[in-house]
Amino acid sequence: MLMPAFSSWVERDGLCYRAGRLTFAGRDVAAFAAAFDEPVFLHDGDRALANLGRIGAALAGRGLRHRVYFAMKANRFRPLLSHMRAGGVFGLDVCSAEELREALACGFAPERISFTAHGLTAAAAALLAAFPAIVANLDTISAIRRLGRLAPGREIGLRLNPGVGVAYRDSELLAYSGASVSKFGIYPEHLDAAIACARDHGLTVTALHCHAGCGVLTPQLDAYARVLAAVAAGLDRLPDVRLVNLGGGLGVPHRDDDAALDLARWADLIAATFARRDVEIAVEPGDYAVKDAGFLVLRVNYVEEKRGVRFVGLDGGFNLAIEPAFYGLACVPLPCLPRPGPLRPTTLAGNINEALDIWARDVALPPIEEGDRVALVNTGGYSASMSSNHCMNGRFREFLFAGAAPSSYAPTSQAGRQQ
Ligand SMILES: Cc1ncc(COP(=O)(O)O)c(C=O)c1O
Repeated sequence: MLMPAFSSWVERDGLCYRAGRLTFAGRDVAAFAAAFDEPVFLHDGDRALANLGRIGAALAGRGLRHRVYFAMKANRFRPLLSHMRAGGVFGLDVCSAEELREALACGFAPERISFTAHGLTAAAAALLAAFPAIVANLDTISAIRRLGRLAPGREIGLRLNPGVGVAYRDSELLAYSGASVSKFGIYPEHLDAAIACARDHGLTVTALHCHAGCGVLTPQLDAYARVLAAVAAGLDRLPDVRLVNLGGGLGVPHRDDDAALDLARWADLIAATFARRDVEIAVEPGDYAVKDAGFLVLRVNYVEEKRGVRFVGLDGGFNLAIEPAFYGLACVPLPCLPRPGPLRPTTLAGNINEALDIWARDVALPPIEEGDRVALVNTGGYSASMSSNHCMNGRFREFLFAGAAPSSYAPTSQAGRQQ
């Protein structure tokens, strides 16, 4: 059976209904989740690899020397990171001393780690001094000074704030640079001071980094081109740079009127800007790799009409996946075993005592009853990794599906937030 009409646009290989049952990565979701009391995150490791592979292929197709780091802040589930390493993903982008240690523990060699924190703690500076092969993208002058004191002679990268933002549906909330002054990166007008600071501490700037926002789809590619132009202008001022890291920010569709990002055009823009320069291109996607490769399965706690609105209360809330509530990045609810009957507008609520804890409003869903399970698609990124124990409702379990055999369920699935 195809996806029901209300969600047919999310159907793909590995995510569809078979004989009326939702299947994900070849597994029956309801049957799998039935073994657990708590919310369950499922991750399709091969989908994540395919997503990352598509990015690499687009860059390779333009003859660009490149490396693809996965931004582990989006999802640091160890079995998934290990699967990526085994699957040939170049490396990880990390943003704290703790993530750096975790990346090393997952078996990524220092030369396959890119570090881009906002600011630089003493602990992170000490690690970067100990591991000179890690690319350190510094985004404040204070960070340059701090690392310079500890590791004179080291190579560093600078994170540029291009002064132009780019984000999903042009959301200001998801842009890391742009109209309002942001904390991220070094503005072009401060670049000379940063270069002088590096020189004073004997540091050589060999990498230039920029991450200008999240969720870029095809309509944002013109703005993305403006970001690239700003990076190219920065490159002109940094003669020792050999690696240009364009950050993450590649988006996935969240709604039926979003189209998938035109990766060919994205790569064309990069090639047009950098192909004739003697630099390697790096990217560090998070969402594009994992968002649609994972989802959260919740149980229906209640179904109740309130002033004509059908509320379906689920046993997990925005503390497990904040993006729908915080950023308006919609997740797509799919009943695991849809009941026959007419579609009705439905509001899906979480179990947290906060007014913004609503998963989706007025989505057309078939009849639904207490105890049913609902999968929320597009919760593979920035969900478990950002979860909290708000209301002490933070429990969940997490699993990796990889390969065809059920025995490849990660035996060390993580039970999150028990405290
Ligand atoms: C420096 C940096 N790189 C990469 C990413 C990954 O971004 P995305 O998940 O949008 O690809 C982020 C996200 O916040 C970031 O801050």
